[in-house]
Amino acid sequence: GVDVSKLLATTGHITLDDGYANTGSCTSSVTFLDGDNGILRYRGYPIEELAAGCDFIEVAHLLIYGELPNAKQLEDFKNSIRRHTMIHEEMRAFYNGFPRDAHPMAILSSVVSALSTFYQDSLDPIDPRQVEVSIHRLLAKLPTIAAYSYKKSAGQPFIYPQNDLSYCENFLQMMFAVPCEPYEIDADAVAALNLLLIVHADHEQNCSTSTVRMVGSSNANLFASISAGISALWGPLHGGANEAVVLMLERIIQEGGDVSKFVNMAKDKKSNFRLMGFGHRVYKNFDPRCKIIKQACDKLLAKLSVSDPLFDVAQQLEQVALSDEYFIERKLYPNVDFYSGVIYRALGIPVQMFTVLFAMGRLPGWIAHWVEMHRSPTKRIYRPRQIYTGPTQRKFQPIEKR
Ligand code: ACO
Repeated sequence: GVDVSKLLATTGHITLDDGYANTGSCTSSVTFLDGDNGILRYRGYPIEELAAGCDFIEVAHLLIYGELPNAKQLEDFKNSIRRHTMIHEEMRAFYNGFPRDAHPMAILSSVVSALSTFYQDSLDPIDPRQVEVSIHRLLAKLPTIAAYSYKKSAGQPFIYPQNDLSYCENFLQMMFAVPCEPYEIDADAVAALNLLLIVHADHEQNCSTSTVRMVGSSNANLFASISAGISALWGPLHGGANEAVVLMLERIIQEGGDVSKFVNMAKDKKSNFRLMGFGHRVYKNFDPRCKIIKQACDKLLAKLSVSDPLFDVAQQLEQVALSDEYFIERKLYPNVDFYSGVIYRALGIPVQMFTVLFAMGRLPGWIAHWVEMHRSPTKRIYRPRQIYTGPTQRKFQPIEKR
């Protein structure tokens, strides 16, 4: 119904690409992604090898600085991050102000945004020294901010970071330790968390990363840019899918466990229901991250000697969907979020915190892209065009005549 020649006359030649499905917004050397063949590499290193052999902070170094660190560089990087794990004591007051049932993603984006108010000496996006400090501050403080948001919801006192612990150990103790009681950090939980953070660490120009680049392109500071990325990640079509998957699997169980019913509902466009954790803009064969996470699920549940009915239902759902014409035709496969929730549950992490963990994993990727965007010799403010379809001119009527 749109008159294209009329549109061109008013807007000039503009490429319309809904959802930027085929538009390259930048050049990048951070992550190589081949969606047809299910390949994901950070700075050229296969995700499978990094997940099997690396510590998350090593991967953060790789993404942000372009190289895997040697032992000395890694130790220096970790030491610097350790020095910044505390958040300003006055920031605790924010947590008192939030309602107890506030979603932790809302708390996370608000408190990260508020870092700009407390750390004003590292806000200049052009000064490399200030940028470096803000990077270390963010990496160090995000787990603290995240764990505090959980403690707030649980009505428990905050547990301060303990700097002789590793990044993942520290997060787990801030989440689960309670004062006056010994807390033993489980090595399997640390390994599982480390792996999940690594597989989420970057995914080129996804919605939240593009948001971080877009906000940063106006020379907004790093904290403000990352806060915007956290908000973009929260949506159920993006990072919020990990929470939505578990809610969907629980619903399937509550309604009798018939996975076919839900597959059929997802095929019916009128239902407005989608299989959460299924489909991806770029992967059209399989999502390599899903493969890694599914294997880790299997291993972790076996090691902990627990079974999770959700894992069983998820596997049934995958089987039924993958043999269904609708899903085959549209190349819809389980994505990174389909099985991650099963691991988070096994670690005792409450469902509302799942997307927060995704944000912790994605942080180095967001930073790497923000830095890359600023260093690009062709950097310009992000400013897409549009095809205007409203009236081009109307006669103004004073209010008494309308
Ligand atoms: N269930 C049912 N149908 C689906 C699903 C799904 N999960 N995903 C896509 N489709 C259908 C669409 O209805 C559409 O059908 P049509 O051609 O008949 O109109 C077709 O597949 C293509 O879907 P689009 O929405 O155009 O694909 P797009 O690339 O825009 O969206 C997205 C990708 C958002 C991931 C989508 O597949 C989806 O909504 N999945 C569920 C949410 C989810 O798991 N998100 C996490 C993604 S991974 C991440 O962000 C970390």
